[in-house]
Amino acid sequence: MTNPDPRELLDLALEAARKGGELAARGQRGISVLDTKSSPTDVVTEMDRATEKLIRDVLLGARPDDAILGEEGGAARGSTGVRWLVDPIDGTVNYLYGRAEWAVSVAAEVDGETVVGVVEIPVRGLTYSAVRGQGARRNGEPISAAAPVELGMALVATGFGYEARRRRKQAQVLSTVLPRVRDIRRVGSAAIDLCAVAEGSVNAYYERGAYPWDWGAGALIATEAGARVGGLRGTPPNHDLLLAAVPGLFEQLHDLLEPLGADSDD
Ligand code: IPD
Ligand code: CA
Ligand code: CA
Ligand code: CA
Repeated sequence: MTNPDPRELLDLALEAARKGGELAARGQRGISVLDTKSSPTDVVTEMDRATEKLIRDVLLGARPDDAILGEEGGAARGSTGVRWLVDPIDGTVNYLYGRAEWAVSVAAEVDGETVVGVVEIPVRGLTYSAVRGQGARRNGEPISAAAPVELGMALVATGFGYEARRRRKQAQVLSTVLPRVRDIRRVGSAAIDLCAVAEGSVNAYYERGAYPWDWGAGALIATEAGARVGGLRGTPPNHDLLLAAVPGLFEQLHDLLEPLGADSDD
C-alpha cells in the first residue's frame, strides 16, 4: 500500500473538522443530556453522536477503506494503514453549558504514527493544524510553544477524567502540583489544552486518564510547535499520563508526577 500524501489527509481532516464544527455549533443552543457514560457527570449529547457520524461520513466518503476510532463508538476497521482518531466534541460539559471552550479533534495516523492533526474551536473561529515535520499552525499562521521556564513559574493546564474512581486521586495529585507551580488552568478540553501549549498560552499540560481521541491531533500540534509530548518514563502519551511542555519543564513536571502513583482509587 503506497503511503497517502499527508497534504491530502490534512485537507480531508480540515474539511471533516469544519463540517463537524458547523453542525455542532448550530446544535449547541438548548442542548440537553442524552445519556451518561462512566459516571453521572460523564455526559453525552445528541450532538456528540450526530457530529461524530457526520465526520465519519466525510472521512469514509473520501477514503472508504480507512480505519476510524471515535469517542462515541464510531469504529471502522480499515485496510489502508490509515486510522483516523476522532473526538467530535472535546469539552462536552462546556458545550452543554453554552460555553465556547469545546473543539472538534481529527487526527490521521499512518501505520501507527500520527501524521496529521486538526483541532477546530468553532465558537472562537480558530483552527489549529499540523503535519508531521512541517510545524504547527493556527488559522494558517505558524505557532510555537513558549520559551523554557522553571516549574515554579509555569502556568500549567490540567484535566480530570470523569470516571468517579479517578476523582479523589486527581485531587491528591493536584494538591501536590498546585503549590509547586505559578498557577493551574482547567479549561475542560484536552485538545484545547494541547493547542494552548502549542501557542504558548500555557507552559504545560498534564492529564491522567485521557484517551487517544483526546490527544491524537493536539499531541502532534504541540510537538510540531516545539513542545515535548509523552507519558511516564519515556513512553508515548497514554492513559496513565499525557504530558506536554517545552523540554526542560517536561522533565521537571514528569519527575513531580511520576512518584504519585496510578491514577485510580483501586
Ligand atoms: C474530556 C475533556 C476534558 C478532559 C476529560 C475528557 P470530552 O473530553 O477533554 O478536558 O479532562 O478527560 O474526557 O468527554 O468532553 O470529549
Ligand atoms: Ca465524552
Ligand atoms: Ca474528549
Ligand atoms: Ca468528546
